[in-house]
Amino acid sequence: MNLAEYILAHRDQHLNELCEFLRIPSISAKTEHKPDIERAAQWVATHLRSAGFQTVEVVPTALHPLVYAESLQAPGKPTILFYGHYDVQPAEPLDLWTSPAFEPTVRDGRLFGRGTADDKGQVHIHLKALESLFKTHGKLPINVKVLIEGEEEVGSVSLWEYVQKNKARLQADALVVSDTSMLAPGAPSITYGLRGLNYYQIELTGPERDLHSGVYGGAVPNPITILCELFAKLHDKDFRVAIPGFYKDVAKLSKAERKSLNALPWKEKDFRKAVGAPAYCGEKGFSIVERLWTRPTMELNGIWGGYQGEGAKTVIASKAFAKFSTRLVPNQNPDKIARLVEKHIRKLLPKSVKMKFETLSTGKPWVAPFHAPIFQVAQAALQKGFGKKAVFIREGGSIPFVTQMHDTFKVPCVLIGFGLPDENAHAPDEHIALDNYFNGIRAIAHFYEDLASL
Ligand code: BES
Ligand code: MN
Ligand code: MN
Repeated sequence: MNLAEYILAHRDQHLNELCEFLRIPSISAKTEHKPDIERAAQWVATHLRSAGFQTVEVVPTALHPLVYAESLQAPGKPTILFYGHYDVQPAEPLDLWTSPAFEPTVRDGRLFGRGTADDKGQVHIHLKALESLFKTHGKLPINVKVLIEGEEEVGSVSLWEYVQKNKARLQADALVVSDTSMLAPGAPSITYGLRGLNYYQIELTGPERDLHSGVYGGAVPNPITILCELFAKLHDKDFRVAIPGFYKDVAKLSKAERKSLNALPWKEKDFRKAVGAPAYCGEKGFSIVERLWTRPTMELNGIWGGYQGEGAKTVIASKAFAKFSTRLVPNQNPDKIARLVEKHIRKLLPKSVKMKFETLSTGKPWVAPFHAPIFQVAQAALQKGFGKKAVFIREGGSIPFVTQMHDTFKVPCVLIGFGLPDENAHAPDEHIALDNYFNGIRAIAHFYEDLASL
């Protein structure tokens, strides 16, 4: 059997195996899922062995294990480092799933379940592409190193240390990642830019204990009100982030890039459908694509305080909390932005509350040229898998590892995504289109095969 025949003949088996992987609730954020995390790491290791990897290790870390594997049986051929993550986001709110999050189910040509698109389904595409090559060639045609972590959704805390300690080992000619999206159905895509991410949390304290809002209301500062006032001041009327210096280092898009991004086959209609909001907003003077991929933002991610239970409770809460984040673009510096954000918020706050400000994580943006020959190989492989020419896009999400690797090894990073923007990553009813999953296996198998001739 040749490669294409092998892949075609194993469709059902591949899909069944993916479902097995998806049934493991490897939620990195929750301690109670530690055994599932462990199981998912072992599952990945087992499948790497059957894909022909001689060295396969489940490496314990301070938090969740990472899986490292090597197949170095192609002397003189390129070496690729493939990166992905086996951990997933929590499934809540559970009642909004049409079928349970960890019981993968096919409906209308889509596979539903937590991790289908982000990122187990995409990791599985590579596992099965490599296995298909191994089974049909007898060995892998190029050298491949694989790093699959279990902490991506909680900020890749242990990964950086592992990279620092294993620099020689991780050395490769290119990094390959599938943890992004396609521009649209039928538009295979290579992502050359991601936004960076800083994440913050604040705690405001007004009165030192909760107070009866009738007895004290009107004469006492309410930290929840103050929190709301604070966030209302962080954007101006043109939807720009109103923090002095926030835009100072933002690189201006070149005319050529602006033109090419806005000429992509991206449809506002699809965006509206995916978002489902009654109206839209955004920074004045920029197209939606520019806002999503090339402009920095500030978003409130969670806000809480006071009474949240059934019925009424008349109270002035002692404390109010918020989690919020800034997405960053070249050439913003994450540490500098964190300082500016904290400084401005401190300045805006009245004396009536005290604040604890924490920067939980920082991450640099990433944008890189795509003229290295490996990008043409990727484009040709996507053509073989999807029958369509791949487009080069930027995206708004963040993958801290990509920036770290690019800075450390200065090698091309090839991001080939098989998800779609409306596949509900991080949300209920996450899914992946089966066409993209199967075409993805074909494309990636050709990609690794064709890299042998580079
Ligand atoms: N796979 C996503 C990142 C992504 C999504 C990139 C869509 C491009 C398009 C990744 O799993 C993720 O969710 N990243 C987090 C950041 C991380 C530090 C928790 C994000 O972007 O919010
Ligand atoms: Mn991901
Ligand atoms: Mn994610």
